[in-house]
Amino acid sequence: MKELINEINELKREKDAIIIVHNYQCDEVQDIADFLGDSLEMAKVARDSDKSVIVVCGVDFMAETAKILSPNKMVLIPDKDATCPMAHMIDTEILSGLKSHNPDSLVMCYVNSTAEIKAHSDVCCTSANAVKLVDHFTNGQPVIFVPDMSLGNYCRIETGKDVILYEGFCPTHHRIFPEDVKKAKEEHPAALVLTHPECFEEVINMSDYIGSTSGIVRFIEKSDCKEFIICTEQGLYHRLKKENPEITIYSPCELNICPNMKKITLEDVRDSLENMQFEINLPDDIIHKANKALKRMLTP
Ligand code: 13P
Ligand code: SF4
Repeated sequence: MKELINEINELKREKDAIIIVHNYQCDEVQDIADFLGDSLEMAKVARDSDKSVIVVCGVDFMAETAKILSPNKMVLIPDKDATCPMAHMIDTEILSGLKSHNPDSLVMCYVNSTAEIKAHSDVCCTSANAVKLVDHFTNGQPVIFVPDMSLGNYCRIETGKDVILYEGFCPTHHRIFPEDVKKAKEEHPAALVLTHPECFEEVINMSDYIGSTSGIVRFIEKSDCKEFIICTEQGLYHRLKKENPEITIYSPCELNICPNMKKITLEDVRDSLENMQFEINLPDDIIHKANKALKRMLTP
């Protein structure tokens, strides 16, 4: 493995590349990251990077977001099949239908969406800033929130605004059931429950903190508690344990693993840099329109 990592570092220098990695990636991919973080942080790093090549280790919408924010850079995803099923639960035809039924609404799309959906939305958000952006951008009018019903519902409850929900969801987070969390709490009464807002409302209601993957990292950094039940994808546990060796993490169940987030291997990263594959290309008009929604996400 050491040889492979040396090869990656050498290729990175040669190609003037940065490797941006999501908190759910396989442990060994996390360990070679130039930057490791949540979707919002990855978008900002991609926007601000001065490297010629951006390698995104995550799923397709993260690589597309990097391309939209840095259209003149070469953006690569090491496995072209790494996708987010939730992002593909809505298409522009369905979104048009929602818009025509609710003509005066603001359209907010979760960053876990296709570039086309972003291009047809007014503003984009991530799990780190969705509540703040619903509050900031609405002025009496309803918000059509796509595609994640759990995050949309969480924004509705937190802001008290009129949020029109769509039926998309994360299959991984919806495998964490309230009964699992209840049982974990009974077994570990001293543990705090930290939850990603893609979880069911009942799970959110049992939680001590709700936030993005990096929000959970920051919460633990500041907490005096030493035990946590973490309701999100298991990939985050590697970073949490590495940065906080003294804490104990409990998973509420065994099924909270996103197969798409586990597709990229170190060999894929090496091949990606060696062969400049797989390049993200998007039509100019989609980049232009989606960029507006993403810029709003990054401004307030
Ligand atoms: P974060 O933006 O919180 O990292 O989450 C991304 C994601 O895909 C959650 O399932
Ligand atoms: Fe998509 Fe869920 Fe996987 Fe995140 S964990 S990439 S939302 S399927």
